[in-house]
Amino acid sequence: MASIFAKKPLAQLLGEANSTGHGTLQRTLGAGNLVALGVGAIIGAGLFVRTAAAAAQAAGPGVTLAFIVAAIGCVFAGLCYAEFAAMIPIAGSAYTYAYTTMGEFVAWVIGWALIMEYALGAATVSIAWSEYLNKLLEVFHTSIPYHLSHSPFEHAVVNGVQVHGLINLPALFVIVALSLLLVKGTQESATFNAVVVVLKVAIVLVFIAVGWQFINPANHTPYFIPADQPPIGPHSYSDWNKHGFGGILGGAAIVFFAFIGFDAVSTAAQEAKNPKRDMPIGILGSLAICTVLYILFGHVLTGVASWREFADPAVGGEASVAYAIQAHMPGYGWLATAVTVGILLGFTSVILVMLMGQSRVFFSMAKDGLMPKAFSELHPKFNTPYKSNLMLMVFVGLFAAFVPGSLAGDLTSFGTLLAFVLVSLGVWIMRKSNPDQPRPFRAPLSSPSLPLVPVMGALVCLLLIGALDSFTLKVAFGWMFLGFIVYFLYGKRNSMLQKGIVVIPEEMEKEAFIKPDPNNR
Ligand code: ALA
Repeated sequence: MASIFAKKPLAQLLGEANSTGHGTLQRTLGAGNLVALGVGAIIGAGLFVRTAAAAAQAAGPGVTLAFIVAAIGCVFAGLCYAEFAAMIPIAGSAYTYAYTTMGEFVAWVIGWALIMEYALGAATVSIAWSEYLNKLLEVFHTSIPYHLSHSPFEHAVVNGVQVHGLINLPALFVIVALSLLLVKGTQESATFNAVVVVLKVAIVLVFIAVGWQFINPANHTPYFIPADQPPIGPHSYSDWNKHGFGGILGGAAIVFFAFIGFDAVSTAAQEAKNPKRDMPIGILGSLAICTVLYILFGHVLTGVASWREFADPAVGGEASVAYAIQAHMPGYGWLATAVTVGILLGFTSVILVMLMGQSRVFFSMAKDGLMPKAFSELHPKFNTPYKSNLMLMVFVGLFAAFVPGSLAGDLTSFGTLLAFVLVSLGVWIMRKSNPDQPRPFRAPLSSPSLPLVPVMGALVCLLLIGALDSFTLKVAFGWMFLGFIVYFLYGKRNSMLQKGIVVIPEEMEKEAFIKPDPNNR
């Protein structure tokens, strides 16, 4: 048996990436689809919910700067993802990059962490989707009964009566519907995603344009939360990361969630028509668009209402964007409804891309023998990993139906950050180990002797992991420990690499892929 740190040969990966025909994913996505896929996964709860939360808890109006800090961390990692995704355009994303640079065990760790990002992320957002659906139904003076829209672990007093949750049907519904769409086809899913993206970006732009006229400059002064700020509601501001410039860093950890998703573009690498050109465009383009929108959105939101209102649960602590419109933008009640629709749409496409990303990572892991073979079987007609989509539908659907929503947007951040750290380090390792490999896109300032971008990417993401709360970290490490057990009981025993089975597709013409890169001097 090979060592658990055995590396998958790069030549083999490149062969898989270039293979065509039966049993391979079809290349149907162009650059526009990929940018839309990124924006689809990125704009969601992070923007609509966490912007106000970050302003209220740590950054004040400086939440615009918090977005910039989080974006800087993401840009370092995004450049590294772009280099890998253009070089090895294969579905497994971070998992695959780790397999060839750091070996099987690290790859497994990443694959396991990505379940937190994608599967858990999809479930968490579906539960938020259910909450906002009820908010929208309020406009029509109706609602889904409490027991049919909450998990059995939740209870509340509604109209003076104690009610218990039973099953979260809307959350289950959205998971089932989107999983079936993914079975139907990648192109169909991408088209649906593109429509949703246009609508949700339009709503964000309208909010920025209309809200701009209602900015009250007094709300932006002072720009940072003062060090002597007395507590508001449940929030106190004495900690280093709750006021002043430290508050910008605290805010960045909160809004990091809003950027998660650009990396999901790389899981579609095997379905990109021209990955060498389009992968960097998809990853960096979606990141750039969202960063600009986020900064403007944060500027307007904290200008229309004071961050203090968002800090007070009795005032604007919930549904913050709708609150700001209703309280400070007279005559624009319709916009509050439109924003709720935007949030629902936003969540829908986040869930869609997360589910897609998860099935693509499992696809690669199953091809390598680290997951059961069913996860890599493609539908005879639709050419999608339908068994994987359907199994995820059950797994994520059960989670969505029966687990409370409070569980763990932060776990999603943990899984993502861990992947970012390892992808960043992977770029550096690959520059050393395979300096002559053609790289259609090269992350700047990443030479083996001066790996500024990879090192900064890893460091900033490690810092953000350190800024997560201790409960999140405990659960995350528990999950990773479970992953070690599964690896030794299943993955290691079934791994193609461990068994010495090297699958090199027939179509592979090795020399065509491994020739010295004239730019790499
Ligand atoms: N970035 C995604 C969101 O904000 C996860 O919902």
